[in-house]
Amino acid sequence: MAVKPPLVPHAKPIVGHALDIWRDPLKFFNSAARVAPLSRIKIGWKDACLVSNHELLYQILVTDAKKYDKGIQYERARSMLGNGVLLAEGDFHLRQRRLMQPMFNKPSINDYIDAMHTYSTAMVDSWADRDVVELYPEFYRLATRVVIDTLFSTKMSDRDVELVREKMPIVISGIEKRGALPPRLFDTIPTPENRAFYSAISDLRALGDRLVTERLDMEREHDARADLMDVLTRTDDEVARRDNDRAQILNEFLTFLTAGSETTPSAIAWSCYLLARHPQIQEEVRAEVADFDPGTNTVAAVQGLPLLQAVVREALRLYPPVWALGRRTLQTTTLGGYELPPGTQVFYSVYAIQRDESVYDEPDEFRPHRWIDDAKKYPRTAFLPFGAGIRNCIGEHFAWVEISIAIVNILKRYELSLQPGQQVPPAAMGALVPGNLPMRLRRMVSR
Ligand code: HEM
Repeated sequence: MAVKPPLVPHAKPIVGHALDIWRDPLKFFNSAARVAPLSRIKIGWKDACLVSNHELLYQILVTDAKKYDKGIQYERARSMLGNGVLLAEGDFHLRQRRLMQPMFNKPSINDYIDAMHTYSTAMVDSWADRDVVELYPEFYRLATRVVIDTLFSTKMSDRDVELVREKMPIVISGIEKRGALPPRLFDTIPTPENRAFYSAISDLRALGDRLVTERLDMEREHDARADLMDVLTRTDDEVARRDNDRAQILNEFLTFLTAGSETTPSAIAWSCYLLARHPQIQEEVRAEVADFDPGTNTVAAVQGLPLLQAVVREALRLYPPVWALGRRTLQTTTLGGYELPPGTQVFYSVYAIQRDESVYDEPDEFRPHRWIDDAKKYPRTAFLPFGAGIRNCIGEHFAWVEISIAIVNILKRYELSLQPGQQVPPAAMGALVPGNLPMRLRRMVSR
């Protein structure tokens, strides 16, 4: 970089900002975001950039997307996900994505609603005798079962779900932390943390391997709906069929297990937390969904619940599950008035960007009605929990519907409230999760 963006203060010799990021990434990115729209941080001895402005982020993800690849955080995920669609680049990514896309369009999601409703009903039924429920693990189990059943026609056993719940957070937070460390600096030292990270990857890949084998051996009913596995293995495109061999199917299975199980539970949990904190809004949403039967409805009908959608949207703004990511320049690239040389790592925190006070009034407040009364005021580029451009989230509609159905089923049965004085600080464990979320439940009079 000839003229460099301003350096975020307190870089240490040799490690730069890496230890601050390792210790408390949310705090680091939040305070660094105040330095400048585009600032410079030190990952070890190397320079990286930090983008804290929504227009610059949109430029990276959409306008100039071809000038970037996914970069260092994603490279660290490769030992877990291989060349699955989240990590694939270029033509291979495009072809996989095109093959998969129909599975994420509205007609397909309409077919998943039954599973989403059945699993979330079973979940709320299982709370019937409890006054307090630790919500986040419940939603984790729900999301894991839903994504694997809908996309891979596989009903996971309780034991397998618990394995995912135990091991996946170790892998995801390990990947995040390694993304902020100088390459190979700590990775190869046999610390307990490193051992736990690599053993969690190997346990999850072994689980995926077994489930993929079982699914491939499964005799499917003649009229069974095509699932993601069918789409990849039975395509008419001969080259694509060959590329989607056993190893690639496992990569895709692990990709969807990771992408679908880590994010949605966080969004449902934060929505419930915010509703518990704002009982008046909780009542309004409950009234809105009183006559809504999730089991017999469609994506369009779910989208037609304006206050519920606004609540989820506001939860995704305040607590974006995928809260920090990055890209890397492939060529000399101009960004925010600076020339970035090829190979520059650029980080961004959606969490900080979606709380920008120059865009959102009362940015730290939960104000779902802003999305009903003033929605046009907010630029599209300032709300990016699902990313944007060619690498945006393929599961966005899937997630909206899954989250909405779960909340409808919860609100129809229970009134949610927090313990007196209960604080729920976000923990950046890979996804942005509510560390502990014990929720008091009061059964509603049956409807
Ligand atoms: C609230 C829930 C979710 C959030 C906030 C979320 C967020 C994201 C984000 C930000 C990206 C883009 C990453 C980037 O730009 O580098 C992404 C990609 C992706 N997501 Fe999601 N996601 C969610 C749920 C899901 C679900 C339920 C699935 C699967 C059913 C899914 C599958 C994927 C896949 C496969 C990609 C990679 C797409 C590509 O690169 O072409 N996500 N997600």
